[in-house]
Amino acid sequence: KTIHILNGPNLNLLGKRQPEIYGADTLADVEATCAKLGRELGLEVALSQSNHEGEIVEMIHAAREKVEGIIINPAAYTHTSVAILDALNTFEGPVIEVHISNVHRRESFRHHSYVSLRADGVIAGLGVEGYQLALRRMATLLA
Ligand code: DQA
Repeated sequence: KTIHILNGPNLNLLGKRQPEIYGADTLADVEATCAKLGRELGLEVALSQSNHEGEIVEMIHAAREKVEGIIINPAAYTHTSVAILDALNTFEGPVIEVHISNVHRRESFRHHSYVSLRADGVIAGLGVEGYQLALRRMATLLA
């Protein structure tokens, strides 16, 4: 079974971007640890990132045909994007939303998530480890 880990805007700069909030690991590090954990769990893992809302919508459309589960960190689009919510609503498998930082301890505009209206579970504030925890949960949900 295949899982796609989709990442929204500015996450290409993970590791360099506000490391006091998001930590020192890069997205390539996340990709490597998740691929390794995926092998242990018997899941194929692919990670992608885009700074463009429409591209993320199209990644979700592509996932409809070929993946069993979606782990998504929509980044800033979490708080703004009805289009990403609508796209996720066309996907039938499990969806887990991940935030590296604890969005609830930050500015009030980060407290609302459109994506949470669709997500089966939400992880926030556990750092990049949140991606691995989401993957473990995917293995349970897809077993
Ligand atoms: C984030 C939290 C969002 O509010 C922010 O816009 C991001 C990253 C996180 O992973 O903590 O870009 O999704």
